[in-house]
Amino acid sequence: MDKILVHGNRRLKGTVRISGSKNSALPILAAALLTREPCVISRVPDLSDIHYMLTILSELGCEVERASGVVTVKAENVTTEAPYEIVRKMRASVCILGPLLGREKEATVSLPGGCIIGDRPIDLHLRGFEALGAAVRVQSGNVKVLAPELRGSTISLRGKFGSTVLGTDNVMMAAVLAEGTTVIDGAAEEPEVVDLANFLIAMGAKIEGAGTRRIIIEGVKELHGAEHEVIPDRIEAGTFLVAAAICGDGVTLTRVEPGHLTAVLDSLSQAGFQVETDKNRITISPNGTRRPLKLDALPYPSFPTDMQAQMCALLATTDGISVVTDNVFPQRFMHVSELKRMGANIELQGGTAIIHGVEKLSGAPVMASDLRASAALVLAGLQAEGVTEVNRVYHIDRGYESIDDKLNSLGAEIERLKV
Ligand code: UD1
Repeated sequence: MDKILVHGNRRLKGTVRISGSKNSALPILAAALLTREPCVISRVPDLSDIHYMLTILSELGCEVERASGVVTVKAENVTTEAPYEIVRKMRASVCILGPLLGREKEATVSLPGGCIIGDRPIDLHLRGFEALGAAVRVQSGNVKVLAPELRGSTISLRGKFGSTVLGTDNVMMAAVLAEGTTVIDGAAEEPEVVDLANFLIAMGAKIEGAGTRRIIIEGVKELHGAEHEVIPDRIEAGTFLVAAAICGDGVTLTRVEPGHLTAVLDSLSQAGFQVETDKNRITISPNGTRRPLKLDALPYPSFPTDMQAQMCALLATTDGISVVTDNVFPQRFMHVSELKRMGANIELQGGTAIIHGVEKLSGAPVMASDLRASAALVLAGLQAEGVTEVNRVYHIDRGYESIDDKLNSLGAEIERLKV
């Protein structure tokens, strides 16, 4: 199991190119199951989660080819049962349910694994499938959905914590081949949902309203192959922005979509940084005093839960008291105990972290517990005195393409040890 050594007290400067979005690429690859014709997806990041998805597609019978960032998937004949051994490794494998149900009218998947960020149900996905006429059975750790035919319907995907991103994706992918009109109310508005909708439209689907709370889908008889380029990864971009805020002297991100990062950029401006945006670039520089923040993670377009841990790493050394609440995953604070081991002063009250900024963190051996928490620990290490040893870095490899090389190219000193 690899570990990462982060040598602290380095300054970052320069330009870094942002990869394609993991959270877009995963459902888009799954959507290739909806047609027998080849689909060509470009700007697919090289990540272990993507590797798992491609393995699942191969196991389902797809021909999969990959040449650098371009993946071709041809799903001429597919089976409908995904193997537990792979599915359990990644929660996002649940998004093969929608396209398989749409195309084959049945699908079986193990109940999802993946990040340990609290209880992560899929009740809203299943509610959506049922509204389309599917029967849902949960048995021996598997969920099976089955429909003699799928009929369009009005479905609300509003849950206790807002909408559901993969749930919206799943229902949309099932509904594109359903008979008649489907209306998804309380749909997730995330840019990744829009990216998937654009890919489905390129395949011949009829979808309106993606990116709003109401998506309307007119079912079609069949879809065809298509080409698509995945949008830039706004969470990778946000993570580099926070790294640059923590210890940068001017860092520019390229191939990024600033419009997807409005809430993150606003927060960083409020925290005292100078942020400049251009069409596909963002530059962040120090601008005098850092300020504490009150931050609420909420569904898009608000501040993303996937950036909450990284912001905690920044605020841990920002003078004053910051208050960070996660309204999407209130239990997503595993990074707090590790940051405390590095000298942070953070108090947890339910889904809220009260952060008393300290002057300095000190390097320590820490344990990555989930994807974004591990990124937060690397960022904490960049500003710490001494060396931070981040263990279980397979979490970080699930979602960041060469994070160590990219940070090193900006001036960090990060070593990866094969253990
Ligand atoms: C996606 C992202 C993940 C991000 C999350 C929220 C991918 C691959 N992952 O995950 O990085 O953190 O959106 O922005 O795109 N919920 C239910 N019932 C359900 C589904 C969800 O109650 O059936 C709850 C969840 O527990 C959570 C909230 O709804 O509290 C949002 O979860 P959801 O949007 O579904 O997250 P994912 O789509 O799994």
